[in-house]
Amino acid sequence: MKKLEMRIWERFPELVQAVKLDHDKADLFRVHDIFHALRVGEWAYRIAYSEWGDVRLAELAGIAGICHNADHMLFKKDGPDERSVKHDRIRTVIKRWLIYTDTKSNEQELIIQAVINHTNKNSDFDPKILIALMDADRVVNAEADVIMRSAQFRNLPPIDYKHFLKDPSATYWNPKTVIYDLSGCLDWFEEGCPVCVRTQLAKQEGGFLAAYLKRYLDTVEQQLKDIGLLPCPFDETWKVS
Ligand SMILES: [Fe+2]
Ligand SMILES: [Fe+2]
Repeated sequence: MKKLEMRIWERFPELVQAVKLDHDKADLFRVHDIFHALRVGEWAYRIAYSEWGDVRLAELAGIAGICHNADHMLFKKDGPDERSVKHDRIRTVIKRWLIYTDTKSNEQELIIQAVINHTNKNSDFDPKILIALMDADRVVNAEADVIMRSAQFRNLPPIDYKHFLKDPSATYWNPKTVIYDLSGCLDWFEEGCPVCVRTQLAKQEGGFLAAYLKRYLDTVEQQLKDIGLLPCPFDETWKVS
């Protein structure tokens, strides 16, 4: 298979300009900044091309990646997190950006649907563009800077010494600690998990990502065990039990 000749931002420079401008206005300078959008766009472009060998499909997946922060741009106004943003508001924002592409209306609909659905669990009915976008977002969100991003921007304590990774009330959307938040990334690369990556390129990359993350999490755990603070030796009254 031929290699893609350019980066997604070289293929759609005017789209990038428009999306960047709206990111600036929304003050998205943290986790979901314009560089996150570009990284997901480039990965979605490569993932789709290497999986299906279709340049146009790859371009649409790449565009979806560039546009996929639309939910984050809007959620502060619409609700507690990006899942609560009204779909027609996402549609309006993306439609405005897609003016700067050569996409037809049926292609635009695929892009919009992919962005709206990209935080869902996997489904057998997911279209290819959505699969590429989901896999790309999972890959980028597990790359090495996730440790810095989670620690700096999630506003969470690093470690729960009582439960470590076994707090029954912690979830992906409410991780309670940085370490739990990071451990959630491993699910994306575990075969059979309802949020796992599905394309060959994402699985291949996921092998490296899961290995370094696992090593990091295991190192933290081992250091706490070695010093005698895991399991936590204190009871509720802060006496050594
Ligand atoms: Fe997202
Ligand atoms: Fe993302």
